[in-house]
Amino acid sequence: MVPGGAGTPAPLGANKGRWRGGRDRLPRRFFAPAAGHTPLDFSRGRRYTSLTMAKRSTRSAPTKTTVRKARMADVEPIYALVDEYSRRQIMLPRSRADLYESLRDFEVADEKRRVVGCGALAIQWDDLAEIKSLAVAVACQGRGIGRRLVRACLADARRLGIGRVFALTMVPSFFEGLGFRRVPRESLPHKIWADCVRCPKFPDCDEVALAVDMAISRGSGSKAGK
Ligand SMILES: CC(C)(COP(=O)(O)OP(=O)(O)OC[C@H]1O[C@@H](n2cnc3c(N)ncnc32)[C@H](O)[C@@H]1OP(=O)(O)O)[C@@H](O)C(=O)NCCC(=O)NCCS
Repeated sequence: MVPGGAGTPAPLGANKGRWRGGRDRLPRRFFAPAAGHTPLDFSRGRRYTSLTMAKRSTRSAPTKTTVRKARMADVEPIYALVDEYSRRQIMLPRSRADLYESLRDFEVADEKRRVVGCGALAIQWDDLAEIKSLAVAVACQGRGIGRRLVRACLADARRLGIGRVFALTMVPSFFEGLGFRRVPRESLPHKIWADCVRCPKFPDCDEVALAVDMAISRGSGSKAGK
């Protein structure tokens, strides 16, 4: 037998204070939970079962989205959003210079200080404004953000006393759901077509013109701006 090797009795007192009873004699809580097992939360004096943990994860608070007027720091994220869709030829491109110039037109959807959507109300004539550059980040679509942005633009139009708001769009049903109705493109003033020459699709336009009459929307219970 090698001294100090396997089988050598430990010197008296060497193991004092150590647990020698084996793993299965210890209370379960002394072991770190194996993968897939539920941990114990002693700080709150209660045990978390896999069921309560699952309930917790599905109950996580929904992300809070704030729709607010755009600020200087929003120019870059707005540019990125619009650029992404303009590359796909879904909307017209906007230069940074253009965005700085028209920043006051913009509403943004803000989630934890991250811009996830934008839309602008651009005044065109004494009684007419256009909703432009409406975009919601792909990952955030279908949560009502687009609708909130349009409603914020319509509220702004109402505040300014603008009677009619229009949009040129490839998603007419989205706008119809907000009280807009299709109008002949020719019914809109020539001035608005100035932007079209910047469009890669010009002159083969596939956008539909829709408009909402703010006075009618106030009186008729239409969905616009509600
Ligand atoms: C169009 C867009 C702004 C909608 O934003 P969103 O946040 O996904 O839309 P919302 O969740 O607010 O949807 C509101 C309603 O419109 C409908 N809707 C959303 N996207 C739609 C689309 N592309 N076509 C038709 N209806 C649409 C929704 O189903 C919802 O209807 P409901 O109230 O009956 O359920 C967004 O899809 C987007 O950024 N698209 C790419 C850019 C673009 O096309 N912009 C418009 C240029 S004018």
